[in-house]
Amino acid sequence: MKRLLVELGKRSYPIYIGSNLLSQADLYIQHVKSRQVIVVTNETIAPLYLATVLNNFQGYNTEQVILPDGEQFKTLTFVSQIFDKLLSCKFGRSATLIALGGGVVGDMGGFAAACYQRGIPFLQIPTSLLAQVDSSVGGKTGVNHPLGKNMIGAFYQPQCVIADAEVLDTLDNRQLSAGLAEVIKYGLIRDAEFFVWLEHNIDALLSRDKEALAFAIERSCVNKAEIVAEDETESGVRATLNLGHTFGHAIETGVGYGEYLHGEAVAVGICQAADLSRRKGWLTEAEVARIIALFKKAKLPVNPPAEMDVQRFLELMSVDKKNSDGQIRLILLQQIGKATLPVNINQELLEVTLKTYGRL
Ligand SMILES: NC(=O)c1ccc[n+]([C@@H]2O[C@H](COP(=O)([O-])OP(=O)(O)OC[C@H]3O[C@@H](n4cnc5c(N)ncnc54)[C@H](O)[C@@H]3O)[C@@H](O)[C@H]2O)c1
Ligand SMILES: [Zn+2]
Repeated sequence: MKRLLVELGKRSYPIYIGSNLLSQADLYIQHVKSRQVIVVTNETIAPLYLATVLNNFQGYNTEQVILPDGEQFKTLTFVSQIFDKLLSCKFGRSATLIALGGGVVGDMGGFAAACYQRGIPFLQIPTSLLAQVDSSVGGKTGVNHPLGKNMIGAFYQPQCVIADAEVLDTLDNRQLSAGLAEVIKYGLIRDAEFFVWLEHNIDALLSRDKEALAFAIERSCVNKAEIVAEDETESGVRATLNLGHTFGHAIETGVGYGEYLHGEAVAVGICQAADLSRRKGWLTEAEVARIIALFKKAKLPVNPPAEMDVQRFLELMSVDKKNSDGQIRLILLQQIGKATLPVNINQELLEVTLKTYGRL
């Protein structure tokens, strides 16, 4: 087992990465202060892993909330179910909430923990690759609003993160690849050596080799933890995690949520950002080709959907919440392993990428 630390002063916490961690009671118990424990999960994960997690808490007062599975349920209405359970069971301020699931459950559980009695301790047990390498680390929690994704939320750090590579066995191939998009992103924005390792080990990851997965999770979490430690609330370097995301969000919204998984849309978006970076004179053609090749090998899409024309992209990209003053700002790549901070984008150059990249 590996143990990493997210260094945030008093709010520092460990990330445990390995295999068969779900049943290691001591990992959890050291982070649980009272006998009251509530596990929040969803109806897909519950039959697979809930009993294993609850089994660590013999003699505790345990409760559970099983949410429906899906991004469309990541709303205040369903977070209220967690509050209802906590209140009806008379759980107090030192009760511990355990979020067991993918990014949706993690974001909702974390947000409920941030709000209940102004904050109770919570543990993240991410079960999707995306949650293990991205959403469970860094303390962004929240829910969607009909007028915008992730628009209601809080920064709230967990007591620990337990990432068990073994649980990825039940994740479907498409979700695994979607998680890999964020893994590749870390190589691109700040870890060239990791990018090269990914080029050599992508097949092992796709075939769910546990050692390869644990290494990729660890290296991704090291990168994310360093970024978060430097910039917890995204006033600077944390923005580099949004590489490809402005294009990606436009695709997710433009073709309707659910058509593209987040990681799939981000893969396309990163390729578009790479194309634009080359037009800026930063990436070489050979580097762009390596990036596209790696996403393809990871079984991710690399070309924008045909139904998204330039106008639609521009419309959607200009409402992205990362922009200021209506000017489109993007993270680009100076080279593989080095991202820029947000740069103002000349609209004509952006239009060239939108018109030509992946369209010929
Ligand atoms: N907080 C952050 O910093 C942050 C970062 C990135 C994404 N997010 C959020 O995360 C969410 C996406 O997360 P996601 O990709 O994990 O989606 P998800 O939580 O919907 O999980 C994807 C699917 O896989 C299933 N699943 C998860 N683990 C499984 C397992 N081990 N076995 C079988 N099935 C499993 C889930 O039930 C779901 O059907 C979005 O809501 C996004 O906004 C948050
Ligand atoms: Zn993302």
